[in-house]
Amino acid sequence: MDFIDKKIQSYAEMHTALEPDYLYELNRYTHTNVLQPRMLSGHIQGRFLSMISKLIRPDYILDIGTYTGYSALCLAEGLQKSGKLYTLEGNEEYAEVAQAHIAKSPLASQIILQKGDATRTIQEINYLVPAWDIVWIDAEKSEYELYFELCIDRVRKGGLIMADNVLWSGKVVNEKDLEKDEATRLLHQFNQKIQADKRVQNLLLPIRDGIMMMQKV
Ligand SMILES: C[S@@+](CC[C@H](N)C(=O)[O-])C[C@H]1O[C@@H](n2cnc3c(N)ncnc32)[C@H](O)[C@@H]1O
Repeated sequence: MDFIDKKIQSYAEMHTALEPDYLYELNRYTHTNVLQPRMLSGHIQGRFLSMISKLIRPDYILDIGTYTGYSALCLAEGLQKSGKLYTLEGNEEYAEVAQAHIAKSPLASQIILQKGDATRTIQEINYLVPAWDIVWIDAEKSEYELYFELCIDRVRKGGLIMADNVLWSGKVVNEKDLEKDEATRLLHQFNQKIQADKRVQNLLLPIRDGIMMMQKV
């Protein structure tokens, strides 16, 4: 399913800053050589992540769910000179592709790829940094609540957590999908939990597949 009308998508892309060359190459490489290229954030969402990061100018970013490294490279664009981005990936093959492309980028020295299950690696790296300025949640959909709980206490006041795919191709508003599909039900449950959570101020942005923006109060 296309997230939005194809003509509107291409019009928006034509009126959005271009991806840097190394991201364009990664986007193309992923689409021709890697399984499930739809998982990659892509041009518009990538420029959105880049702009958010450049506005915040973070010292520390946590990227949960590297895939081929696209969101990590976009978010890293806004890092302070001494800043670091940790990106977490459980699949060896995706991690290798990501590592190779990160190494070719100008941001390589600021990005640390941590292989393994994110529910474990988050806990290992949480205390390597003073606090997270930005967290991007984009790994296993059924674990979103857990990722949120594992990092919320380590996010600085005013820091930003964002979670991708919270509209799940529109399934979260479809009664049948909510009954039949576990991922849909859990994403809906996550959205409801965040709506009621006093630790954050939230905004569900209907960009691409839906991004839940959560600023720590
Ligand atoms: C949607 S993709 C990430 C896309 C990427 N953030 C981007 O914007 O291009 C989700 C990734 O999370 C990884 N993943 C899923 N569950 C995980 C877990 N528990 N620990 C680590 N990685 C996981 C998958 O292997 C996959 O590569």
